[in-house]
Amino acid sequence: MIVHSPLKIVLASRNAGKLREFTELLPEVTFVPWPADAPELPETGAFFQDNALQKAEGARAWWREHGAEPVDGVLADDSGLCVDALWGGPGVLSARFAPDLPTYRDKNRRLLAMVPDGADRSARFVCVLAYAPLRGESLTASGAVEGSLAFDHRGDGGFGYDPIFIPDGFDRTFGELPPETKHTLSHRARACVALRARLGLD
Ligand code: IMP
Repeated sequence: MIVHSPLKIVLASRNAGKLREFTELLPEVTFVPWPADAPELPETGAFFQDNALQKAEGARAWWREHGAEPVDGVLADDSGLCVDALWGGPGVLSARFAPDLPTYRDKNRRLLAMVPDGADRSARFVCVLAYAPLRGESLTASGAVEGSLAFDHRGDGGFGYDPIFIPDGFDRTFGELPPETKHTLSHRARACVALRARLGLD
C-alpha cells in the first residue's frame, strides 16, 4: 500500500486517553483529533471489529464532505475489558458500562463488586483497529493482553479500567505501571504493531 510520509490520520474518537496513546505508539503519524463539532460516531455492532469498521468508515464519509484539511485516512479503535467471571463483559460495551456513575473510580468499584468472591479473576483487554484510507479499502488489525482483576482501584495512570487490570507477569496495575511499560505489552500496542505491518510502515 502506498502511503504519504509523514502519514496524517484522523483519529475517530474523543477519548483523550486513546489519542495520547496513539501519539506515543505511532510517533511517525500526525494525528488529527475528531473535531468537537463533528457528529458522534455510532457503534451498534455486536463485535469489536464491526464497531471499529463502523466508526472508521462513518468518520471517513463525514471527513470527505466536511473535513477541514487533507488527510491520508481515518483510524478507529474499538476496545474494551473482557472479564471471564462476567462472561466476557463489559467487553464491547465497556464504554457504556454503568452510565449512571460519573467517574472511572466509581465504575471500577462497581465492576469489581460484580465479581463473586472466590471467582476466577482472569481478564483481558482487547483492541481492534480499523483504518479507512480516504480512497481505498479499509483494513483491520487487532491485539489483546491477558491479565487479572485487582481487588481495588490502584494507581491513577492511564485511563478507564487501567487501575483494576494487572497484566500477566506483573504485580502492579496498568494504573500503577509507567506508560512505557503499558506500551510494550498492551492490547493497543500489539494492535499497532499489526497495523504498522499492514500499512507497510516498518
Ligand atoms: P470504545 O472503544 O469507544 O467502545 O471504548 C472503549 C472503552 O474500553 C474505553 O472507554 C475504556 O473504558 C475501555 N478501554 C479500552 N482500552 C482501554 C485501556 O487501554 N485502558 C483502560 N480502559 C480501556
